[in-house]
Amino acid sequence: MCGIVGYLGASEAVPVLFDLLRRLEYRGYDSAGIAILNGSILTSKAKGRVDDLISITPEIGGCTGIGHTRWATHGKPSSENAHPHCDCKDTIAVVHNGIIENYIELKDKLIDSGHEFRSETDSEVLPHLIEECYAGNLESSVRNALSMVRGSYAIAVVSTGEPDRIVIARKDSPLVVGLGSDGYFVASDVAAILKHTKDVIFMDDGEIGVINKDGVNVTDLDGVFVEKKVETITWDPESAEKSGYEHFMLKEIFEQPAVIRETFSGRISSDGIDLDAALPNVRRIVIIACGTSYHAGLFGRYVIERFARIPVDVEIASEFRYIDPIIDCGDLVIAITQSGETADTLAAIREAGSRGSQKLGVVNVLGSSITRDCPCIYTRAGPEIGVAATKSFTSQLAVLLLMAIRLGRERRMISTAEMDDLVSGLRQMSGNIQRVLNDAPLIKECAKLFTDADQFMFMGRGANYPVALEGALKLKEISYIPAEGFAAGELKHGPLALIYDGIPVVAIATKDGVHEKMLGNIKEVKARGATVIGIANESDTEIDKYVDYVLRVPDADPWIAPILSSVVLQLFAYYVAYHRGCEIDKPRNLAKSVTVE
Ligand code: AGP
Repeated sequence: MCGIVGYLGASEAVPVLFDLLRRLEYRGYDSAGIAILNGSILTSKAKGRVDDLISITPEIGGCTGIGHTRWATHGKPSSENAHPHCDCKDTIAVVHNGIIENYIELKDKLIDSGHEFRSETDSEVLPHLIEECYAGNLESSVRNALSMVRGSYAIAVVSTGEPDRIVIARKDSPLVVGLGSDGYFVASDVAAILKHTKDVIFMDDGEIGVINKDGVNVTDLDGVFVEKKVETITWDPESAEKSGYEHFMLKEIFEQPAVIRETFSGRISSDGIDLDAALPNVRRIVIIACGTSYHAGLFGRYVIERFARIPVDVEIASEFRYIDPIIDCGDLVIAITQSGETADTLAAIREAGSRGSQKLGVVNVLGSSITRDCPCIYTRAGPEIGVAATKSFTSQLAVLLLMAIRLGRERRMISTAEMDDLVSGLRQMSGNIQRVLNDAPLIKECAKLFTDADQFMFMGRGANYPVALEGALKLKEISYIPAEGFAAGELKHGPLALIYDGIPVVAIATKDGVHEKMLGNIKEVKARGATVIGIANESDTEIDKYVDYVLRVPDADPWIAPILSSVVLQLFAYYVAYHRGCEIDKPRNLAKSVTVE
């Protein structure tokens, strides 16, 4: 939530900052602003999107600047509350991602000492605190100011007193510096700077960096020098571009055959599964995650229990933190997170560690915060820019399947014949996803029929239950149509009351051990007037008798079919939202990484 950027180099800063901000816009899009150092500090801010900012920004020369795209927490979206925020004399400008928890107390003290505030934000205390501490050295005034602050921050600061310098600092909010041939690029995540450079330094918590023309000098909060490693990002810069697609979401859906190939690359053989991190032998696994990643966790439970016979609990990270969880060193807690920055997930995995459990992350974003907290297995989906998670979800399911097979093999729960079948299924997965994508025009046509639906229900059983939940989440977040996902066996315990004549019900009915039960559930909703859209295997001709519309997935192992059905539901949600004219990549009120509680 919120993206910060900075640039110092040989080029004009304004176009570079706009480019970086556009690429970070998925982190927040209710207001944006920039500040350029050019003798004085020249700022431009606007309510709305980066394009709104661009349209009102006059020509500003200067090769050093900072910028921000905001997702409002403290103070409504407005140009006054947009960053950068300045001190009283407009000599110091700050952009901030995070939350200053003790800002009211700090603000009161600063007002008592004569500081004048111009916004309702928590962040504005930072420039005033830095101004209060400034005695000719920006770095030490930032250090002193931060020693008074409680909360989370990634900040970039410029001052007219020190031209050609950006001071940055991080605590619990992501921050990366790119080292390019024509300058230094600061951003909240690597995807924003990939076009400019692949060589980056990831800032860690409690570090302050000073960027000038000669390089980046990093110290800790006590001023002790920290040797930083320059890492080279393997992501292809093209992967963070729309490449001719109308929306990032559509592009990311269509990338899934390649993503799955990458997720599996070098990890599968008939002898076993090779993963980046060891899987300890434990009594119990607890999976924690939020949103889509939580749905992946539910799938993880089904496959790990099925193949490895290890009991698995799945918890919503924001709940896990506060339930005084019963865990110990006999447990493995797995945090699933695309961004690696979700505040609740990070706090939950830290909580688990503090109680002695073993920890593991399943993560997509390279170098993200979780990778600094515990050993991680990368999903290798590449940058995901659309706010609605798509390729990150299917790659999470694929990694969880790999983990389940590996654990099952180690515990001798999977026979060689079963292993061979699974490996052959995994090898066909990418091609099977491609076949689903080839049906996109049919899915688009079907989605069009439901453009004006008031409500949707999604149901599934077994491993298709998390798919139903995810299908409903996808639809509601981008089309704003209320949608409920539920376990089909629960119908009679409540959801059946919601069925009325014509309500669309999506039934995930691929062939598995509970297929017949699922057909029974379809009959129950049909008998009460629902219009049923069935997701079924290609060879299932019987299904036509039960449903109004069928969307097909190739015949596949029942543990692999849910991944294929997920792709159908992503396309379905995309096209419903598309026909409704929704702003698909940036749904209202949402942001890609939820870095606040
Ligand atoms: C889903 O489309 C959302 N973007 C959201 O539910 C997301 O999955 C959730 O915020 C968790 O994010 P993470 O995977 O980056 O931790």
